[in-house]
Amino acid sequence: MAYLALYRAWRPRRFDEVVGQEQTVTALRNAVREGRLAHAYLFSGPRGTGKTSIAKIIARAVNCENIDDGEPCNHCSTCADISNGNFMDVIEIDAASNRGIDEIRELREKVRILPAQGKVKVYIIDEVHMLTTEAFNALLKTIEEPPAAVIFILATTELQKIPATIRSRCQSYNFRRLTIEEIGERLQQVAGASEIELNDEAMVLIARRAGGGLRDALSILDQIYSYKGRVINKEDVQEVLGLVDDLFLGKLMDAVFSKDTAAVVGMLNTALNQGKEAQQLAKEAALYLRDLLLYQVLGDKAEFSVVTEASQSFIEQQKQQVDKHKILQALRMMMDTGDRLKYSEGNKFLLEVTFMEMASLFDESEPAVEKKKSVTKKEAASPEKDEKSSARDILWNKILAGVKAQKIPTHALLAQGKLIGSKDDAIYIGFKKGYKFHRDRMGEKPNREILENVLQEIFGREVEVEFILLDSEQYNDIIVKKAIEYFGEDMVEIKD
Ligand SMILES: Nc1ncnc2c1ncn2[C@@H]1O[C@H](COP(=O)(O)OP(=O)(O)O)[C@@H](O)[C@H]1O
Ligand SMILES: [Mg+2]
Ligand SMILES: [Zn+2]
Repeated sequence: MAYLALYRAWRPRRFDEVVGQEQTVTALRNAVREGRLAHAYLFSGPRGTGKTSIAKIIARAVNCENIDDGEPCNHCSTCADISNGNFMDVIEIDAASNRGIDEIRELREKVRILPAQGKVKVYIIDEVHMLTTEAFNALLKTIEEPPAAVIFILATTELQKIPATIRSRCQSYNFRRLTIEEIGERLQQVAGASEIELNDEAMVLIARRAGGGLRDALSILDQIYSYKGRVINKEDVQEVLGLVDDLFLGKLMDAVFSKDTAAVVGMLNTALNQGKEAQQLAKEAALYLRDLLLYQVLGDKAEFSVVTEASQSFIEQQKQQVDKHKILQALRMMMDTGDRLKYSEGNKFLLEVTFMEMASLFDESEPAVEKKKSVTKKEAASPEKDEKSSARDILWNKILAGVKAQKIPTHALLAQGKLIGSKDDAIYIGFKKGYKFHRDRMGEKPNREILENVLQEIFGREVEVEFILLDSEQYNDIIVKKAIEYFGEDMVEIKD
């Protein structure tokens, strides 16, 4: 028998099987029971929170042959046909697939034909915000003069994209994210019934990653089960989801907040060498900062997304220690880097530099931070520019200082260049037109070695250097493009 994905097998089939969404469930069940359903409903909310499931419960309930206290029986042939998608009068339209033009046209033609098989025709239109304007207008006309014995259920994850004209014609229900507890409980129930041994730590870890949606929670459980078998513990979850271990983030952030860049870079290296993805690390760090910020501002522990039991002592302390404005700034930085890492896999530098920059945020003595403070107002105009250029500046100043400490003449040469970008294990240093001499000298072994040693010290690993003359067209194009890709446009100022 084909394996049925857990999230499908566990689609709630009665109102009383739905997790959470209490008010919605009560209101709709009462309406079914009392035979006073509206003609059009609009269900909105994040994915995997029960919109489609409840739409189908309604579809069955209004057509079921043995309806019982507002619930479908789920045994009669009507209920079975609807569940299997074999019922002519329950029509599901996925607006995301072709934006619905043909379907809505067909809907307009057929909507006035009486139900063929059942009592009530139910149109379920998923991702309704994807409809074209034309399709929306057609839908609106139909909803404005609803034929008898037809119910429309529109579902969307993006309520704000639904025209007011449609919204005002529908009875609206907002589906909320499910709590970690609700998700955890359901996970245990599903695991128990499927003879999966899911310990509590593993359960919480999955529940937190699900972002309030049960579909994702169950899919994650499925995924781990298929890799790891029936016994699932915390380490299995961490491994399959590519998460860092419990204490890692707490420790890493401790190092950031105490400006211990060597420790930060060391820890990042260890994690990367163990096969963690740079993007995953950025994401985890951003989530940690978010947890910290919410904890600081709201005292909210219940909804931590990455902070674990084990790492609570870290966050407890950090909460006292760090300024919330800086956390917010750091969070933006990390999210931004996470986004950019999506398009440039494996670029360790970007990650490392962002962490260095982040550490410097918390360093009161660092001039870059002072400068930042005094321009806070202006920053509003282009906040990102300041953040990004300071990331590069901080690294470049570190490099220059390191070289200067080794050999002043080398520093004098290098200082004429600028850091233009980086990729995996190489960084690119550019020299402008008139500085070919400097570039050539820097490329000579003794100077290059000094620089490479400094980089080795900063990054804790070997880093290659490429010197680029910024007027050699062909080189420019490729490298500049790369630099832009990794650092963002305003990091790269080639022309003066
Ligand atoms: N509120 C809920 N109660 C129980 N299971 C749920 C709930 N929300 C989602 N699920 C699970 O996720 C799957 C997908 O849910 P679905 O109703 O299609 O979500 P949506 O339409 O909101 O994206 C269901 O089959 C079920 O396994
Ligand atoms: Mg759905
Ligand atoms: Zn039935």
